[in-house]
Amino acid sequence: MSATTHTQIDRRRLAELLDRERRRFADEHPRSRELYAETSKTLLGGVPMSWMTMWAGGFPLFFEEAKGARVVDVDGRSYVDLCLGDTGAMAGHAPEPTARAVERQIRRGTTVMLPSEDAAWVGRELVRRFGLDAWQFSLTATDANRWVLRMARALTGRPKVLVFNYCYHGTVDESVISLENGVPRPRPGNVGPAVDPTLTTKVVEFNDLDALDQALAPGDVAAVLAEPALTNIGIVLPDPGFHQAMRAITRRTGTLLIIDETHTMSTGPGGYTAAHGLDPDILTVGKSIAGGVPIGAYGMRRELADRILAEDVDLEDVGGVGGTLAGNALSLAAARATLAEVLTDEAYAHMIPLAERFTAGVQEVLDSRRMPWNIVQIGARAEYRFCPLPPRNGGDAAAAHDGELDAYMHVYLMNRGVLITPFHNMALMCPVTTTDDVDRHSAVFADAVDELIDG
Ligand SMILES: Cc1ncc(COP(=O)(O)O)c(C=O)c1O
Repeated sequence: MSATTHTQIDRRRLAELLDRERRRFADEHPRSRELYAETSKTLLGGVPMSWMTMWAGGFPLFFEEAKGARVVDVDGRSYVDLCLGDTGAMAGHAPEPTARAVERQIRRGTTVMLPSEDAAWVGRELVRRFGLDAWQFSLTATDANRWVLRMARALTGRPKVLVFNYCYHGTVDESVISLENGVPRPRPGNVGPAVDPTLTTKVVEFNDLDALDQALAPGDVAAVLAEPALTNIGIVLPDPGFHQAMRAITRRTGTLLIIDETHTMSTGPGGYTAAHGLDPDILTVGKSIAGGVPIGAYGMRRELADRILAEDVDLEDVGGVGGTLAGNALSLAAARATLAEVLTDEAYAHMIPLAERFTAGVQEVLDSRRMPWNIVQIGARAEYRFCPLPPRNGGDAAAAHDGELDAYMHVYLMNRGVLITPFHNMALMCPVTTTDDVDRHSAVFADAVDELIDG
């Protein structure tokens, strides 16, 4: 379809509809509104964590209960939850086996500074799923990334890291950088950086192998930290052959390759790495693998593990990696139950076809209404973006951001009982998401588009 045949969006109509939807949201959520008025006096920005202000209704929903693929708010309204805690709840909310394991462990001690038997089981399982040999745990994926970047510098004696433009790997200092007209700059909004990230980090566009090659050629980069596909600026898939070429370049230049599977765990039980035969030196993961209990994890090749243990660095105490509650018995009990009984092969065999159905449902609306938008799927996750073709890199994906359209779609969906991730148009399937849930989204999405273009 050529650009000229695309349906145009009337911005005035969009603004009116957004205003109408926000008024409806405020009217229909009096208890959340009341609670927000109260928390605005006591919590920074009125929320326990700043991202919670990003819901498009003007104030966050306060939730009463989240169970499976459903959230019920304090006003008694029920939602199909396709946000799933921005992947933290990819196992579904409060999955039964995880809840049982947590209940049991909380009565047997959680933070003891000693390993439990679950550590042995989870270690074996992560080796089996991802193929990396030696594992350790944190409480967040951010910390897993922070610590392996330190180790990569220690192992290589090189000062820098490389990330891709518009990546997100958590609040990792080195990664809060982006390209501005091709020039690396601290990412706009970078909060009080201790060190200018342009001194620590090289940044190139995803899928740009020439730029990657040039950046790694001087031999001063300890590690490339990469998601297999960008998932935090819409979904940007790798070009065919990108991963093989990146691996070849990193090997040739002696650069370690760290693959961050925190979101791409949606691809399959062993993430994108197992599904596509990637061969990273180090792998990080987090969010979903303990069924909603805080956890992060990193694994590395045996040879690197042996070397880091032999290095003259303090891994055990005050050397800058680790944490008192990291690897605690509660997260490991939850991870064991979640990996053994919830995020199983069978679960993925249910989730991925649902994401295909979701993608087909959205695509049908886009095609039949000639909307200049696209949708991309990766395993159990799909995301639409307001540009005609899937972007090939973070810069193009960022340029397609449309805050007003984003807000309209989010609040329209919320008002009709569907949650997708704020600050994304991401939808994720969990093991108990149903075809009805997916079809509900498709129907509401179609109505949202029709109201926008029928004016
Ligand atoms: C790819 C990726 N890595 C790491 C993180 C950090 O996870 P956490 O916020 O749990 O530390 C995120 C969070 O969105 C992420 O998307």
